Order: sequence, then structure tokens, then C-alpha cells
Amino acid sequence: MKKTVRDVDVRNKKVIVRCDFNVPMEEGKITDDTRIKAALPTIKYLLDNKAALILMSHLGRPKGEAKMEFSLAPVAERLSEYLGACVKFKSSPKVVDEEIKREVSELKSGEILLLENVRFRKEETDNDPKFAKELASLADLFVQEAFGTAHRAHASTAGIAAYLPAVSGFLIEKEVKFLGGAVENPKRPFVAVMGGAKVGDKIPVIENLLTKVDSLIIGGGMSYTFYKAMGLEIGKSILDTDNVELAKSLMEKAEKMGVKLLLPVDVVCAKEFSNDSEIAVFKRESIDAGYMGLDIGPETIKNFEDTLRKAATVVWNGPMGVFEMDNFAAGTKAVAEILADVEAVTIIGGGDSAAAVEKFGLAHKMSHISTGGGASLEFLEGKTLPGIDVIQDK
Ligand code: 3PG
Repeated sequence: MKKTVRDVDVRNKKVIVRCDFNVPMEEGKITDDTRIKAALPTIKYLLDNKAALILMSHLGRPKGEAKMEFSLAPVAERLSEYLGACVKFKSSPKVVDEEIKREVSELKSGEILLLENVRFRKEETDNDPKFAKELASLADLFVQEAFGTAHRAHASTAGIAAYLPAVSGFLIEKEVKFLGGAVENPKRPFVAVMGGAKVGDKIPVIENLLTKVDSLIIGGGMSYTFYKAMGLEIGKSILDTDNVELAKSLMEKAEKMGVKLLLPVDVVCAKEFSNDSEIAVFKRESIDAGYMGLDIGPETIKNFEDTLRKAATVVWNGPMGVFEMDNFAAGTKAVAEILADVEAVTIIGGGDSAAAVEKFGLAHKMSHISTGGGASLEFLEGKTLPGIDVIQDK
């Protein structure tokens, strides 16, 4: 068990919190502030308990340069709105400079300051000890709250813990509880639903989950690579050519391990990759050569539903089809609706599946939606995440 902010005295301390404020932006405007909202409980707790807060995060990949389109200024503004208090912010290409140090030294309990994008300094992604020490010198305690970046060993996510005691915030605690609980000690039957276009991206997760789950459901673009491995014709559907053999070996592994592997039995196809293209539903044995599969079919939805309704724990990562196009959204929507309705613990991996449950207005019905894309995948692979590893044990 890792220490959390509840296990330490934060009163009148300077506390530096690593958040993941890597939010999507369009023309300088935040288009989704889920990650900002997810950090609020920890921020509020620390402020209520009379800590002086220094927040830090990266945004995008400015590659060690102070590119203003990656400035955290809009995040400071949004945070101030949510907290109803001024979040001090001064953009500095050096992230920590003399003026920032002075501001931090004058920061009182209950006040809050956000540093500029830590990736404005190349030393951040290099995990440079000098930069880590510079960040650490601002505070008495380090709080890790950046689950989405916990798979990166950077100065602000891992290096800093060499110079300060490190505890987790509530978001990290929740992510570890749900994702870790599912992998280590799931209520059974435990079902994983995997989707998305490429098998290659998901191999390590599938391999690890095969040792844990009772059933594995595979849908989305990656199913066609499995079809190919079964010797089926897939028309113009997406194929991960390099991984056909691997798909075959995953199927054999599932059989050996007694894991029920469910693949789509029918697919919604179109002649072109377009919402306006002519649609047809084919059984998987008879996909027409002129068509490509873009969603799971109605019979498949019924099959998946039967398994999902019996589950006690479900982890879902990756859409069932091209849900961004209305004509190919039914499969992903159906899975989201079933998960919203079942009694099971439902855990949504970050990225596309999180975006899908948001799109269908079902996010509030899930037990947990991870704020990490890459981080949640690495967690489900069973890897140790450096940003979590550095947190002190209880
Ligand atoms: C993410 O959005 O996955 C995290 O914020 C990590 O970002 P990165 O892939 O640029 O390290």
C-alpha cells in the first residue's frame, strides 16, 4: 500500500503536486478538462488542510523549448474558476527562475501557484537530477497525482522523489485501487473487452490479461487480424499484417489456459471508409471482397452481452468500431450501454473507450474511467510504473 496525503501532516507545509494537465486544446482553448477536474479533490484537500500548493504538469510535447502554444496559462485560468480562488501563474521559459522562487517563498498556507509546462526544459524528459532537485527545492513534500504520466520516468514524475518524501493524491489512489484491483484480485467472472485497430499496440496487455481473465472479448479493427489468423477472407478490412501469427498464438494460448475467447461473428461493413458509404452486414465467414468491416454486427452484440451480463468485473479498452461515424457507432454504444446497466465493477481504460462513454453520456454510470491512456495500458500489462514506484510505502 502506498502512502497518501492522508498519511502525512501537510499543515503549513509547502507541497509540490505533479498533476497531469495534459488536456486537449484547440486554438488555445481547452476542449476537455476531465483531467483538471480529476485533480480537484486532492487540491481542495491540501488547501483545506492549510498547505501552500505548488502545482506542476506537462502539456503536449514541446521538446525542451518554451513554445507558447504549450503554455499552461489556460489551465491556471480554468483551475481558478473551479477553485473560486486565484491560481498564481507566471510563464517562465525556465519553469523555475528567481521570480518564481521568490513567489513560492512568499506563498501562504491555502494559496496556490502553478508552474509553467515542465517540458519547456529538456531536463524534464531526461530525468535530469539537477532539474529534479531544483523542483524539489521549492517544497517540503511531493504529491504524485499524475496518473496519466506515471509511466514516464521524468524529473517531475520520478526524479523529484529522490529529494522529497513522496505520497500519492486521491486520483492515483483511485486508479491503483480499480486497475490494480482488477488485475490482482478481481471479482469473478472477470471479463476483458479489447478493441481498437491494431493488435500490435495491445499484445502485451492481452498477454497479461489472458493469465487473469475468465473471458476475453475482442472487437474493433483488431478482430480482422484474428479472422485472417483463422483463415477467413476479410475484404478491404484493416489488417495488422505483421501480427497475424501472433493473433494465432494468442488464440492457442487462450484455449490452453481455458479462457473463453469471443470474436465478432458478424460485422457491419461498408464499401468505403465513410459514413455515407453503402452498408451491409456480413457473417464473418462471408465478408464480400469489395467491403471493409467497420463495426461489430447485431448477433455479435447479443453474444457479447450474454458474457458481459454474467461478469462481476469488466475492463474495457478500445472501441468496437469506428464510433466517431454514426453508422458504425452501434457496437461501441451497445457495449457502453450494457456496461452502464450491469452490476459488475466496470473499469474503462483511458483514450478512445473513455471518449466513447463520454460521447454516449454514460460516463457517470461506470465504476471507474481511467485518466491514463498509455499509463493505464502499461498498468494492465502488469508493468511497474516509475511514477507510482517512487511513492513511499505505508
Ligand atoms: C498522456 O496524455 O498519455 C500523458 O499525459 C502522457 O503524455 P506523453 O505521452 O506525451 O508522455
